[in-house]
Amino acid sequence: MTSAIYPGSFDPVTFGHIDIIKRASKLFDTLTVSVLENKAKSSLFSADERVKMLVEVCSDIPNVKVDSFSGLLVDYVEKNNFDVVIRGLRAITDFEYELQMAQTNRKLLLQADTVFLTTSLEYAYLSSTTVREVAAFGGDISLFVPKLVADRIYEKFRIKNGDQNGGKD
Ligand code: PNS
Repeated sequence: MTSAIYPGSFDPVTFGHIDIIKRASKLFDTLTVSVLENKAKSSLFSADERVKMLVEVCSDIPNVKVDSFSGLLVDYVEKNNFDVVIRGLRAITDFEYELQMAQTNRKLLLQADTVFLTTSLEYAYLSSTTVREVAAFGGDISLFVPKLVADRIYEKFRIKNGDQNGGKD
């Protein structure tokens, strides 16, 4: 029985992440998608909100669990006895950072081996950062995230901007 973990910020989860989740779930018996709870880094959504959205978007994939973690990834991997860490690779720009992270993790914990899945071409440009940026200026994010996620992002920006009417007038 092989268990994989797909860690990330998922602030918010995008179609690119969902594509990786679906493909990784077919390769391993169980896949745990785990949100990094990083209190030092400011995020649009709290870890609980990100977990909730992931639970909803993964509800139709039977072998996927959603969790959160804080601290070092290797400690979480060791504690939960995961066999493999999954990361998506979009482009060469991701490679250097991802390679460094994978090698550091393996140095810290031999068991923490990383398997990279190349992002599907249709999502190669996509990142949570750009989704947040487009949404912040009221742009259309329907091609980037599921509707339930888009609704929550717009809601966040309405609250942030102090729009009490929900932007309806
Ligand atoms: O979605 P992201 O932000 O690219 O995910 C990065 C993540 C969460 C996988 C990475 O920052 C991480 O594992 N953080 C936990 C702290 C840690 O173990 N750092 C050492 C890695 S070299």
